[in-house]
Amino acid sequence: MKKILILALAISIWSCNNTKKEESMNIKVEEMGALASGDSVKLYTLKNAAGMEVAIMNLGGTIVKWTAPDKDGVYADITLGSNNPEDYFDNTKYLGALIGRFGNRIAKGKFSIDGQEYTLAINNGPNALHGGLKGFNAVIWDVTPIEGAEPGLKLTYVSKDGEEGYPGTLNVEVVYLLKADNSLSITYTATTDKKTVVNLTNHAYFNLKGEGKGDILDHEISIKADKFLPTDEGLIPTGELKSVVGTPFDFLSSHVIGERINDTTDIDILRGGGYDHCWIFGDSSNTLKSVAFVLEPASGRTMEVFTTEPAVQFYTGNFLNGKATGKSGVRYDKRFGFCLETQHYPDAPNQAAFPSTILLPGETYKTTTVYKFGVKK
Ligand code: BGC
Repeated sequence: MKKILILALAISIWSCNNTKKEESMNIKVEEMGALASGDSVKLYTLKNAAGMEVAIMNLGGTIVKWTAPDKDGVYADITLGSNNPEDYFDNTKYLGALIGRFGNRIAKGKFSIDGQEYTLAINNGPNALHGGLKGFNAVIWDVTPIEGAEPGLKLTYVSKDGEEGYPGTLNVEVVYLLKADNSLSITYTATTDKKTVVNLTNHAYFNLKGEGKGDILDHEISIKADKFLPTDEGLIPTGELKSVVGTPFDFLSSHVIGERINDTTDIDILRGGGYDHCWIFGDSSNTLKSVAFVLEPASGRTMEVFTTEPAVQFYTGNFLNGKATGKSGVRYDKRFGFCLETQHYPDAPNQAAFPSTILLPGETYKTTTVYKFGVKK
C-alpha cells in the first residue's frame, strides 16, 4: 500500500512538472545583453499553438519581432525592429515601442491643469512628442510572464511625479496576450496620485509583405472613421474635425495606401508628408470595436485592428529615411512600414473640445487594442 502511494505521488509530481514545462515552452526568455547604463535587456518570445511568435523586450516594452502566416502558411516577420537594443536609443522612430506618458504631440510642450502650467521637453520641432526625451519607450519595464496556451506578459512601470515634466506618480501596467486565433491584445491600465494627463499606445510598424521587403504603398486599408484631424505645419491639430468624404483621407471603403498619398493638391497630405494624421471613429462608445482592416494582396496577409480608443494615428513611415538598419540588414527607407497607433486625440490637454485625457486620483485609465492576423486566399 505504502509503495503504491509513493508511486502515485511520484507520478503526480512528474506530471505537474511536465505540464509546467509544456506551458513555459510558450514563452522563451533570452538575454539581449547589457546597456551602457548597466541594465540588462531581456527578450520574451511568446508562441501560440498556430506558430505565431511575438518577441517583446523589457526595454520600452518593445515588440521586436512578430511573425504571421501568408496564404500558403509561410510565416514572415511582419514588424520593423532591430536586433541590437542600443539601436533603440539611437533613432527617433519608436520602432515597436510602448509610448507614454502621452502619445503624439502636445503643442509647445505646455499644458495647464487647474491653472497650474506644466512644461515638457521639446523634442519635435517646437512641440513635445511621445512622452519626452526619455519616454516609456526608453525605460526598463518589470516583466512577469503569463504562462498558458495563450501566453502573455504583464509589464509594469512607475513613472515618478515630475518625470519628463508630467505631474503625479503614474503606475502603469501593460498586458500583452497572444491568443490562439492569431491576435495580440494589448491592455493598458494606469493610476495616478495627482491629476495628470495620459495617452498610451504602441508604435509597431507593420509591413505585411515582411520586414525589410520594400515599402507599404501596395497595401490596401480601410478605416472606419468619417472624420480626421487636420493639422498645422508642426502636425498639431487645428481643432477642426474634418469630414473625410471627397479627400485622400477617405478610407471608409478600402483603398491602396499609395493611391492618393502624394496628392500635392491636398494641404493635409502636404503637411503630413503623406499620412500622419489622427482618424476619428464614428463609434466613440469606449467598447472594443473593429476600426481598421489591412490586406497585402500578394501574400494574402490581413490585419484587423480592434480598439476601445476613440481615434487612431495612421502614420505611413514618412520620416523613415534609411538611417535605421533592420533585423535582416535592410535599411528602412521612407514608407517601409505603417503604424496604426490607437489613442486619444493629439494635443487634447490643450484643446477643450477634444475628449479629455485627464486622469484623476482614484480613477483607473484602461484601454484595449487588438491586432488580429488572417489570410485572404
Ligand atoms: C508621428 C510621426 C512621428 C513618428 C515618429 C508618429 O506617431 O505621428 O509624426 O514622426 O511617430 O516615429
